[in-house]
Amino acid sequence: MACATFRKSAATPQASLYARLGGYAALAAVTDDILAREVKDPMIVRFFRGLEVRDVQRIRQHLLGQLCAATGGPCFYPGRDMKTVHAEMEITNDIWNAFTGHIGETLNAFKVPERERNELVVIVQSLKKDIVNKP
Ligand code: HEM
Repeated sequence: MACATFRKSAATPQASLYARLGGYAALAAVTDDILAREVKDPMIVRFFRGLEVRDVQRIRQHLLGQLCAATGGPCFYPGRDMKTVHAEMEITNDIWNAFTGHIGETLNAFKVPERERNELVVIVQSLKKDIVNKP
């Protein structure tokens, strides 16, 4: 019955990671929190210097779209691929660790449960090979 499908709530174990995290509004809040932490870190913010407000808005929307799509939400990631975007940036392992450390701080702040946290870590770590490009 169609309505049985609709009744599948965010609490069911089969729900997508997107749903378990609380959907679009929750992911938007997570994205904003991550970005706020990144720009407070001198090691990270230097990469974003010189960008216009509209660039920052685009990056925010693209990060959110990427997160939404990767967690099984009803989104399309409209941005460029990770290798192309970060190609000229000389991102080292230390920079990667700083950046992803802030993501971890956000997940702590939002009290994301361990199961969801582990699934997010897998998604984020799958991007590392395309983003870290300096030994
Ligand atoms: C989990 C790791 C990361 C993810 C998921 C990620 C994702 C993204 C996304 C989606 C965009 C926008 C792409 C577009 O608009 O087409 C972007 C842009 C950008 N990222 Fe990352 N990124 C990550 C790590 C990093 C790191 C470690 C740095 C450097 C500290 C960095 C610096 C930048 C900069 C400066 C831009 C703007 C590029 C531009 O449009 O001029 N990113 N990133």
